[in-house]
Amino acid sequence: MKRVVALAFFLGLVALWGPSLGEENPYISSEVCKACHGAIYDQWSHSLHARSHEDPVFTAAHLQSIEYAGPGATPYCFSCHAPTTRVTKDYELRMNITREGVTCNFCHTVSGLEIDKPIKYLLSPGETIYGKAVNKTAPHRLEYREFFLKSEFCGGCHDLYVNNAPVMETYTEWKAGPYAATKQCQDCHMDVIEGGRSHRFTGGHFESRVKEAAGVRLETEIKAGKALVTAYVTNKGSGHKIPTGIPSRRLILHLKAKDDRGNIIYREDRYYRKVIADKEGREIAEDFRFMLDSAKVLSDNRIAPMETRVETFTFPVPSTTGQVYTEASLEYSYKPIILMPTEISVIMAENSTIRAGFPVEIPEGQKGISGYTKVLWGALVLLIILVVAVEALRWRKGKRD
Ligand code: HEC
Ligand code: HEC
Ligand code: HEC
Ligand code: HEC
Ligand code: HEC
Repeated sequence: MKRVVALAFFLGLVALWGPSLGEENPYISSEVCKACHGAIYDQWSHSLHARSHEDPVFTAAHLQSIEYAGPGATPYCFSCHAPTTRVTKDYELRMNITREGVTCNFCHTVSGLEIDKPIKYLLSPGETIYGKAVNKTAPHRLEYREFFLKSEFCGGCHDLYVNNAPVMETYTEWKAGPYAATKQCQDCHMDVIEGGRSHRFTGGHFESRVKEAAGVRLETEIKAGKALVTAYVTNKGSGHKIPTGIPSRRLILHLKAKDDRGNIIYREDRYYRKVIADKEGREIAEDFRFMLDSAKVLSDNRIAPMETRVETFTFPVPSTTGQVYTEASLEYSYKPIILMPTEISVIMAENSTIRAGFPVEIPEGQKGISGYTKVLWGALVLLIILVVAVEALRWRKGKRD
C-alpha cells in the first residue's frame, strides 16, 4: 500500500511539473504566413517591426539596461520589442518567434483594446486572425476588429510613460493634434498599395519621410547695419511632433549668412528637442536611461503637427559687405550607440519552436521541439500508468494471498 501512495504522490508531482515541459508557443511564425501573404511578408521583413528585437541600436541599449538595472529590465523591454514574450515569457530566447520582434501573429491576434493610459492589448494568440477583413474567406479563421484601422492600436506601444513622465508620446501627440480628426497612423505609415496596405512602416529612418515632414522659409531685412532674419519652420507632413519617439532625437535649424565673397558673417544653430531629467533633476542623455530613470520633462520645444515656429535672428552686418546671402537647413539628428556584432552575439541563443495553428506546410527544418516533448511526455505518462497498474495488481494479489 505504501508503494502505491508513494507512486500516486510521484504521479501528482509529475502532473504538476509535466505541463511546463510541454510549454508551447501559441504564436504562429511569420514564415508560415509568408507562404500565402508573400508580398506583405517582404514588406514587413524589411521594416523596423521585424527588426525591433535584433536592431543593433536596441540590442546595445538592452544590454546596457541589464548592466544598469539587472535582468528585470528584459521583460520590460521585450514587452514592446519582442512582444510575444508577453505570453510565452521566453526571455532566454529559446524560441525563434521571440526574435521575430513585432511579428504578424502578434498584431493579428490582438482581439481587443483597453483604452486607458497606457492603452492595453487583449491577447488571443493562435489560429484566429483578427483584422479589418469583412466577408472574406481564408484557410484560417478571420474575425473583424474595427480598431485595426485606428491609431489606438499603435498607441499601446508608441506611448511610454516612466514615473509619469512622457518618454515617448507619439500617440498622445497625434491625439492632441489636427490629424486626430482626419488621419490615423495607418493612413500615413501603411501606404495603400496594390492588394492592400504596405507593411513597410517607414518612419524617421527614411530620408524621404523626414524630408516631406518639415519645411523652412526665410525672410531677410537689412536696416542700419543690422540684419534681421526670420525663419519659419513648419511641421508640414508629420502626424505628431518632430522629432517624435525616443527623446535623444533632435531637429536642428542651421542658419548661415554670407557676404558676396562667400565669407560666413554669421551662423547659429537652434535645437528642437525634449529634455528629460531623472529623480535628482539631472538631464538624461542615454537611450536606455530614458526608459528606466525618467522622472520629469524639463523642456520640450519640438514642433507640433501643422505648427509653424517663427525664429528671429539679428546680427551686425559689416559696412564693407555688399549683399547678404542667408541660407537655412533643417537637420534631423540621432546618434545612437551601436555595439560591435561580436559583442551583440553574447545574448543570442539557439533552438526554437514553430507551430502552425492551421493545416499548412511548415518550412523544412523548422518543426518545433514542442512536438517531441509532447511525445516524450505521453510516453512517460503511459509508463507511470503501467507501473501503477502493475503495482496495484501486485498489491491486490498480495492481499488475497
Ligand atoms: C494557406 C494560406 C494562408 C496562410 C498560411 C495564411 N493566410 Fe491569411 N489569408 C489567406 C487568404 C486566402 C485570405 C483571404 C483573401 C485575402 O487576403 O484577400 C487571408 C486573409 C487574411 C487576412 C485578412 C485580409 C483582409 O483583407 O483583411 C489577414 C489579416 C491574414 N490573412 C493574416 C494572416 C497571418 C497573420 C498569417 C500567419 C499567421 C496568415 N494570414 C496565414 C491565406 C493564408
Ligand atoms: C504592427 C502590427 C502589424 C504587423 C506586425 C502586421 N500587420 Fe498586417 N495589418 C495591420 C493593420 C493595422 C492592418 C490594417 C491596415 C489597413 O488596411 O488600414 C493590417 C492588414 C493586413 C492584411 C489585410 C490586407 C492589407 O494589406 O491591408 C493582411 C493580409 C495582413 N495584414 C497580413 C499580415 C502579415 C502576413 C504580416 C506579417 C508578415 C502582418 N500582417 C504584420 C497590422 C500589422
Ligand atoms: C507590439 C508593439 C508595437 C505595435 C503594436 C506597433 N509598433 Fe511600431 N514599433 C514598435 C517598436 C518596438 C519599434 C522600434 C523598432 C526599433 O527600431 O527597434 C517600432 C517602430 C515603428 C516605426 C518605424 C520608426 C522609424 O524610426 O523608422 C513606425 C513608422 C511604426 N513603428 C509605426 C507603427 C504603426 C503605424 C503601428 C500601428 C498600426 C505600430 N507601429 C504598432 C512597436 C510597436
Ligand atoms: C499625417 C501623416 C502622419 C500621421 C497621421 C502619423 N505619422 Fe508618424 N510620421 C510621419 C512622418 C512624415 C514621419 C517622418 C518625420 C518624423 O520623424 O516625424 C513620421 C515618423 C514616425 C516615426 C519615426 C520617428 C523617428 O523620428 O524616427 C514613428 C515611430 C511614427 N511616425 C509613428 C506614428 C504613430 C504611432 C502614429 C499614430 C499615433 C503616426 N506616426 C501618425 C507621418 C505621420
Ligand atoms: C511601451 C513600449 C516600449 C517599451 C517598454 C520599450 N520600448 Fe524601446 N521603443 C519603443 C518604440 C515604439 C520605439 C520606436 C520609437 C520611434 O522610433 O519613435 C522604441 C525605440 C527604441 C530605441 C531606438 C531604436 C532605433 O533604432 O531608433 C531604443 C534604443 C530602445 N527603444 C530601447 C529600449 C530599451 C533598452 C527598453 C527597456 C529598458 C525599451 N526600449 C522599452 C517601445 C518600447
